[in-house]
Amino acid sequence: MTRSVFSATPTQAYLDTLLLYYEEEVEGEAYFKALADFAKQPDHRDKLNLLARVENHAANITLPLIRKYTLTPKDDVHLFQSGQEMARRDNKTWDDLLANMARTFPGYVDDFLQLEAMAPQEDLPRLKLLTAHEVAAIAFLDLELSGAQDSVAPMNAYLKKDIR
Ligand SMILES: [Fe+2]
Repeated sequence: MTRSVFSATPTQAYLDTLLLYYEEEVEGEAYFKALADFAKQPDHRDKLNLLARVENHAANITLPLIRKYTLTPKDDVHLFQSGQEMARRDNKTWDDLLANMARTFPGYVDDFLQLEAMAPQEDLPRLKLLTAHEVAAIAFLDLELSGAQDSVAPMNAYLKKDIR
């Protein structure tokens, strides 16, 4: 048996999921930016803006894969609008927001790991960094909920990671 020098053809399920998750990061950026705009306390605003930057960074890390497979995301205007609408629905107290994130984010890590499991080997470096953004956000939440001083450190560390 010989091994093909060409990379394995990705499944449609992989491509559909990749596109969906990319779009959700773009939406997520708008979502957290809008929540930041609603926030009354500067500390909360800063943390929500940082979450928005993490979402943007995750989207930028994923974008080369979207281009590689010539996938067509919904346009940014549409994604930003739906992110802002979600933020209006979720405009709750800081404690409620944190509790909501703590409840939902671990499930997203599972979703990203499933995407990795479907992926051609060569896409893994980017997808692992996509997964890492959710891990960083959860690390922030854990620190924030325990009242730690520098709760944003995991997100700042994530923003320094990139693929050259
Ligand atoms: Fe995200």
